[in-house]
Amino acid sequence: MNGEKFYITTPIYYPSDKLHIGHSYCTVAADAMARYKRLRGYDVMFLTGTDEHGQKIERIATSQGVTPKQYVDKIVDGIKALWKDLDISYDKFIRTTDDYHVEAVKKIFKALYDKGDIYKSEYEGWYCTPCETFFTERQLVDGKCPDCGREVEKVKEESYFFRLSKYQDRLIEHIENNPGFISPQSRQTEMISNFLKPGLDDLCVSRTSFKWGIPVDFDPGHIVYVWVDALSNYITALGYGTEHDELYKKYWPADVHLVGKEIVRFHTIIWPAMLMALDLPLPKQVFGHGWLIIDGGKMSKSKGNVVDPKVLVDKYGLDSIRYFLLREVAFGQDGNFTNEALIQRINSDLANDLGNLVSRTVGMIEKYFGGTLPYEQDSTEFDTDLIKTSGETVKKFEGYMDKMLFSDALSELWALIRRTNKYIDETQPWVLCKDAEKTPLLAGALYNVAESIRIISIMLQPFMPNAPKAIWQQLNINDERLREWDSIRKWGLMAHDLTVKKGPALFPRIDMKKELEELETALKAAQAESIANKTAKEENGKEEFNEITIDDFAKIQLVTGEVIASEAVKGSKKLLKNTVKMGDETRTILSGIAKYYTPEEMAGKKVVVVANLAPRKMMGEVSHGMILCAEDADGNLSLVSNDKGFGGGFEVR
Ligand code: MSP
Repeated sequence: MNGEKFYITTPIYYPSDKLHIGHSYCTVAADAMARYKRLRGYDVMFLTGTDEHGQKIERIATSQGVTPKQYVDKIVDGIKALWKDLDISYDKFIRTTDDYHVEAVKKIFKALYDKGDIYKSEYEGWYCTPCETFFTERQLVDGKCPDCGREVEKVKEESYFFRLSKYQDRLIEHIENNPGFISPQSRQTEMISNFLKPGLDDLCVSRTSFKWGIPVDFDPGHIVYVWVDALSNYITALGYGTEHDELYKKYWPADVHLVGKEIVRFHTIIWPAMLMALDLPLPKQVFGHGWLIIDGGKMSKSKGNVVDPKVLVDKYGLDSIRYFLLREVAFGQDGNFTNEALIQRINSDLANDLGNLVSRTVGMIEKYFGGTLPYEQDSTEFDTDLIKTSGETVKKFEGYMDKMLFSDALSELWALIRRTNKYIDETQPWVLCKDAEKTPLLAGALYNVAESIRIISIMLQPFMPNAPKAIWQQLNINDERLREWDSIRKWGLMAHDLTVKKGPALFPRIDMKKELEELETALKAAQAESIANKTAKEENGKEEFNEITIDDFAKIQLVTGEVIASEAVKGSKKLLKNTVKMGDETRTILSGIAKYYTPEEMAGKKVVVVANLAPRKMMGEVSHGMILCAEDADGNLSLVSNDKGFGGGFEVR
């Protein structure tokens, strides 16, 4: 045990009812690294969790008729269940709704304010709600979000700002003086030339137009910007900002923040600047991995190309999926996910190379020696090279793992697996067995193969939670010392008179054609089920949370209205400003319907208005009420009208 600490984090996930295989990629990688470090004797802290605040969550919850907390509570359980299915060995799971986190973030915000690094001003610019990101006019691409390509909203709010610009030079200096801080190198170049060199603007770090977030406790109404809230998790999870900060003292700074490439920017600019402002040490490394791509685009639920990790695991087994994710694509680069590639890897690397090696070895020991090798053994002329390859593989494997080059590490390991298979072909046990004088040679050869398998099984552990154990069972490796990491540096540790016992095939071969058809059906069924569940949940949710009494209904004052004028709201693509006559009263009511009705079409419309809604400010205009609309499955809006065309001011019941 070297006892040195190793702190690794994944991003904290937005609660989504269906995390896809792309999300699992990052967590599986972090898990492989955490397991590897534990095996190397490190004292590991592996953190993951959920990022639960923000306007996006608030809107979804509202649309489902539940509170944001009710919404996230249900989803977080599902996320934890998925990590269980994938055997993710995290040490801590943080939720940004956890009390200790909320309190610590308030303190962090206040500390930055007291220091003068946060100041109050007014924000006017663009906001992408799905990405929870602010953009300046020049950052937009064709008027849309440069990250996801979706519509952005103009926001104008009194806000707090973080003096990000102040840290620009220190950040550049830190990045340049610490090669490896941003990995891979290409991401460092991107951050410096695309973001840091052009100049940093101060960052808007509070919002006032919604409520679901951590309040700025010295200025009610302001909510801490969700990225400031989220990034802080890496230290609050360790107890930073509380009386119990022992874990913080022990594990911070993080050894590696593992993140997808699109959020490297937040982790290598905003987060280090926040830490600098707090006078805290910076993480040692931010590793930006690539995306798992399907059909040429990043996977996303909205694109309907979700690949359900649970379906894949149930069908092919956990080890195969974890292996595929980390073997197929060089970590850091984007890679395609296809079912063909997955089955191909299972058949060739797992069933053929690894599975066959184990089953033929155990099979031969049983066949030629009744399951137990004799003591008397001789070396063959091929031994030296096998033993040398094994030693070299260990070194290369460790070298790649230390750099998180998982695919390279696995490729080295498979070279040893293939070398071992080749050794069997070279020594030809099926020929040796025919000559009684050669029995010691035969026994020696099979011993070497078994020893090589033992060494391979130990290196497989970070990637595969199950196969190594199955191998140990078949080779009867019960002694802990034969399973320890350091035992792979020494050849010949297993007892020479080892006894084996054949078990089920580690990785059965798959009929590609049949499987592709079945898989397609299973994935479709899972998608259909998830949609059905969602609908059922929504319906149940409505019963559970939305049932109201007639007295509740009476609180809502619905009144007919007549739109007498309508105009677009400056700077907004969504909003129309309507002048609505309701009896004697005329009101200004804003509606997000500009995509569906022109101002000309609106004029003269007979509508239904929620009359006693609290006034709400949007884009500098105040709306006094809400015009009711229906929304169809494609998101088209239709005004709710009264079919006899009553004029304004009549009660709707
Ligand atoms: N909540 C933020 C992270 C805050 S960290 C302080 C977030 N959440 S996320 O749920 O959208 O994404 C979590 C991680 O999943 C990100 O690292 C993201 O890159 C990764 N992936 C999501 N889809 C992916 C693929 N298709 N392929 C690989 N990784 C992908 O961002």
